[in-house]
Amino acid sequence: SSSSPCTTADKVNEKILQCTDTSNQKPCPLVSPTAPVDFTPEGKVTRVRQPVHLLSREYQDKYKEAVGKMKALPESNPLSFKAQAAIHQAYCDSYYKYHKSSGSAVAKDDPAFDVHFSWIFAPWHRMYIYFYERALGQLIGDDTFALPFWSWDSPAGMVVPALFKGSFVNPLYDPNRNTKNLDALVDLDYLSHMKADPIDFKGPKDEKYKELVNKNLCTIYNQQVRKGPESFLGEKYCTAIEGNSGGSLERMAHTAMHVWVGKPETTPCDAAAGGVLSHKDGKFNCRNDMGFLGSAGNDPLFYSHHSNVDRMWHLWSTRLGGGQGITDTDWLDASFVFYDDVKSPRKVRIKFRDVLDTRNLGYTYDAEADRDLPWLRPKI
Ligand code: C2O
Repeated sequence: SSSSPCTTADKVNEKILQCTDTSNQKPCPLVSPTAPVDFTPEGKVTRVRQPVHLLSREYQDKYKEAVGKMKALPESNPLSFKAQAAIHQAYCDSYYKYHKSSGSAVAKDDPAFDVHFSWIFAPWHRMYIYFYERALGQLIGDDTFALPFWSWDSPAGMVVPALFKGSFVNPLYDPNRNTKNLDALVDLDYLSHMKADPIDFKGPKDEKYKELVNKNLCTIYNQQVRKGPESFLGEKYCTAIEGNSGGSLERMAHTAMHVWVGKPETTPCDAAAGGVLSHKDGKFNCRNDMGFLGSAGNDPLFYSHHSNVDRMWHLWSTRLGGGQGITDTDWLDASFVFYDDVKSPRKVRIKFRDVLDTRNLGYTYDAEADRDLPWLRPKI
């Protein structure tokens, strides 16, 4: 109802679009005053997303080339890499709350808007990487280009993909990662004991290796097989930042891998040293990139990480019987505005109901490759 303080309405989004502060600490990604056009579903599926670790050499090069070109765009282009990262930042860590109030007292009717910690999480991020994927394809003139996913749910994908490593000559590289974890088998349950060092094992035959792989598969199973759509997708949005009502899709492997990859906060820093202001506590976060929501979009790995989060939602909808998910019209009719078309960016308004089936967005995941999901296999 309209009197509910917890409406997932597009009003909040409209406020963010009015952002005019272009100072460094509070990036203001959406600047065009023109009215958005409504999203039109793509007529056919032209893009099939593939796991990063199984990409052909040619596809790897394509991905690098596309992100390189996106990084070379002028920052005034809302589909430049910088601007894309700023969009994510604007929707994180109470950015809006502090933006409106210049860091001082916050009016009660002014929700601390965030795209995390509620049922907004899955559809918003699906939309975000959808437009990112389209922009990459446009930059290399290939409309079949599909955003590869970091397949941390399959044993062969349980390391930071080599494609993202190396040095600055690689557009997919990011220096702000936790070097301790970069070559280790991931721990999808990392959040429960973050202080621990990555386990030491001698190779895939090692018992400790097998144990962690199995533990990871269990984590994914527990994340994916839930009772009720809200348990998986999150609870109704209600000034999200104040309470944590995210679903298992967000809270488990997703968050663990953010913290796993990001550079830990070790030294104090400020804006000049590359820190990102936390609008929650007014402190600077020191080049954590993936490890801190506000800066996560700076790491190209973020987008392939979210491609897999998105795939987990897709598998839940299709393979696990979740279907369209939540039926509340407050969720279905919620909409956001994004930029589309890297050559002449225009605003597009898109509703949650538009994105519940990936085919509407012209992409899918390879069903054949996902026929035998290791985390769905019965235990031996
Ligand atoms: Cu917007 Cu993985 O976070």
